[in-house]
Amino acid sequence: MNEDIKIKISNLTKIFGPKAKSVLQYVDNGMSKDDLLKEHQHVLGLSNINLELRNKNIEVIMGLSGSGKSTLIRHINRLIDPTAGSITIGGEDIIGMSKEKLRQFRQQKTAMVFQSFALLPHKTVMDNVCYGIFLQGVTGDEAHQRAQKWIDRVGLSGYEDRYPSQLSGGMKQRVGLARALTCDTEILMMDEAFSALDPLIRSDMQDLLLELQKELHKSIIFITHDLDEALKIGDRIAILNGGLLVQHGTSQDILMDPADDYVRDFVKKVNRSHVLHAKSVMNNNKPDNNKAKVVVNTEDSIDNVLCEILRSDAEYAVVQDSKGAEVGYLNKKDIAEVVKPLVDD
Ligand SMILES: Nc1ncnc2c1ncn2[C@@H]1O[C@H](COP(=O)(O)OP(=O)(O)OP(=O)(O)O)[C@@H](O)[C@H]1O
Ligand SMILES: [Mg+2]
Repeated sequence: MNEDIKIKISNLTKIFGPKAKSVLQYVDNGMSKDDLLKEHQHVLGLSNINLELRNKNIEVIMGLSGSGKSTLIRHINRLIDPTAGSITIGGEDIIGMSKEKLRQFRQQKTAMVFQSFALLPHKTVMDNVCYGIFLQGVTGDEAHQRAQKWIDRVGLSGYEDRYPSQLSGGMKQRVGLARALTCDTEILMMDEAFSALDPLIRSDMQDLLLELQKELHKSIIFITHDLDEALKIGDRIAILNGGLLVQHGTSQDILMDPADDYVRDFVKKVNRSHVLHAKSVMNNNKPDNNKAKVVVNTEDSIDNVLCEILRSDAEYAVVQDSKGAEVGYLNKKDIAEVVKPLVDD
């Protein structure tokens, strides 16, 4: 097994309907979601997904409503069974697990944060945060101490005795996050966890998650329908369309080389120059030495490179790697290509 891969999904297909197995052959032969519904009255949730999710990374699953994001994540903790295919987590087959093993796996290895917060309304913040570890069998002082650590860490110190109805949406989701983190699981699953929050609060929660991940190094699966959020949060992004996996790659892969028109439509709506790095856009053509230049780093955003060029009234930027070696060049034309919105070609 490749140590870097935490979750391996192979040929996973999910069809909803009474005779799922008997219509599987049509999907295997390439039948679309629309045709399967029209001709066989079954819903295609996922079609032949092959996906490797890396250990200790934030892997984003993205796609429009109905594309299969929740169906995919529910397979990972086996809340639903596949029609075909296999899933291994840390090398362990989770499709063949007994009921008891599955229950243990869910409780010990996975925690979930929901869009709707899923807090118990008649329990305090402290009791809500303790709830996950109570199920793991941790109680009393130990549970309270562990919960308090995460209540403090998500910025809710002093709110331990409040009830969910006394909290704002952002605070409720901090409780949801503290509850999941208190469980101390390797895998954290977040299904549209920040989608119900106001934009500024949402951005704060994204920052909090990234800050926590620097210390925690969990395997996080984060679902969103928003490419801006995916680009900010994800080490890698998997894009679903109508149950099909259409692309899986880094933010740079997706912005530089969208796999199809569906992905291109998402990419058109974001500010590419804000997210693309100098190293993704640079070329090898060294301009004349007598032209005015600035020096930038491989990881600098194109926005920053442009600012540097304009500030120094330079013609081009020399791109250096972390050791100071010259690895490429960016001129104003390269940058203009990125800054202009993608046009249909
Ligand atoms: N239990 C079910 N029975 C029948 N069809 C289902 C069931 N669950 C999901 N589906 C269908 O499977 C497809 C994928 O649904 P899913 O909920 O995974 O999408 P999603 O990408 O999470 O969408 P959203 O962004 O709206 O949450 C949809 O067409 C949906 O109607
Ligand atoms: Mg969903």
